[in-house]
Amino acid sequence: MPNQSTCRVCAGTVTEFLDLGQQPLSDAFRLPEDTSAEFTYRLAVGACADCAMVQLMEEVPREKMFHQDYPYLSQGSAVMREHFRALAERFLSTELAGEDPLVVELGCNDGTMLRTVAAAGVRHLGVEPSGAVADLAAEAGVRVRKDFFEESTALSIRDQDGPADLVYAANTFCHIPYVDSILRGVVALLKPGGAFVFEDPYLGDIVEQTSFDQIYDEHFFLFSATSVDAMARRHGLELVDVERLPVHGGEVRYTLALPGARTPSAAVAALLAEEQARGLHDRAVLDGFADRVRAIRTDLLALLEDLKAKGERVVGYGATAKSATVTNLCGIGPDLVEFISDTTPAKQHRLAPGSGIPVRPPAAFADPHPGYALLFAWNHAAEIMAKEEAFREAGGKWILYVPDVHVV
Ligand code: TYD
Repeated sequence: MPNQSTCRVCAGTVTEFLDLGQQPLSDAFRLPEDTSAEFTYRLAVGACADCAMVQLMEEVPREKMFHQDYPYLSQGSAVMREHFRALAERFLSTELAGEDPLVVELGCNDGTMLRTVAAAGVRHLGVEPSGAVADLAAEAGVRVRKDFFEESTALSIRDQDGPADLVYAANTFCHIPYVDSILRGVVALLKPGGAFVFEDPYLGDIVEQTSFDQIYDEHFFLFSATSVDAMARRHGLELVDVERLPVHGGEVRYTLALPGARTPSAAVAALLAEEQARGLHDRAVLDGFADRVRAIRTDLLALLEDLKAKGERVVGYGATAKSATVTNLCGIGPDLVEFISDTTPAKQHRLAPGSGIPVRPPAAFADPHPGYALLFAWNHAAEIMAKEEAFREAGGKWILYVPDVHVV
């Protein structure tokens, strides 16, 4: 009998389809001198038989993940900076084109999206519980409230600022298990014609590319149009648009509105039909995904051990949250990957969670270049490979493990 849990959306039965083992907090980079016991939890994922929502079997308390020292920066990729700048411009000419508009962003991080809105003089509020990144947003001229967003937060924002034209969240909504409080808050906060827009990694891309490293503590839900549609209906909202995005290895931007306020776009029906046709939520498809994950684990470990036996140097590239899933599932430590190069100041000179692999600034990557780079930030491959031409010219090769283990 597989493990079961209770669905965080509809209280139905969630049945496990993949166990990724004991895992640390994916963004808890430790000081080398820290000898305290590392927090771990069992990372496993299942699907709800009633509403189809794919979700983690165990929940990590939010304060353990999102706090003063949360290190991730939205501004860490030039492609993502442009993605959010262009989206802010679009919002300014659509959702925020009315009289004295207001946008509220859940998990605004360093304010990468809202800084364009702030520069345009449009009313906005970023709600961000992670202190250090919220400070960066404030320094960039963004109005920030250091808080977790939930129903009570929404009500107090409505009291202070009035209703919102737009509630937006990028790579945040899927982090939050308590959807009922969030969606009650969104409904209370929105103007009658307003929209809740959020973008998160897409289950369809994760299954198709076997990008199992999208599964970690912070990614509590793996959304699809099917599961978001059911969740919206259940919580007094309607799915009115979907847009597939190429960023972060494949995401979908969902737009929810109050029922009847907007006509659902043809894209909604098309994506629902596509998910149905490919059997995205079928047990056999999810089991097939789990089998491919186990094959990647075997192949990646075999490749790294072979390279070690040949005396080759392998360095990790991008100390992503995703990399914690990979290293801790496969048992990859500093014996197989010398260090991980990363641009984020708060990760550097620390040890990657669980694996204990040191994180170093990018200068270490070229000093001298290794023979192989294991691309943990594969979702930024185009940007990184363009930037690291000197590595290729020096004979360096990239190791990728999505959609399968290969060297380029
Ligand atoms: P990302 O894949 O965006 O997210 P997550 O942590 O949620 O898996 O993380 C990218 C990481 O890679 C981030 O720590 C910054 C780092 N990075 C580099 O070191 N160099 C680069 O050129 C880019 C684009 C990112």
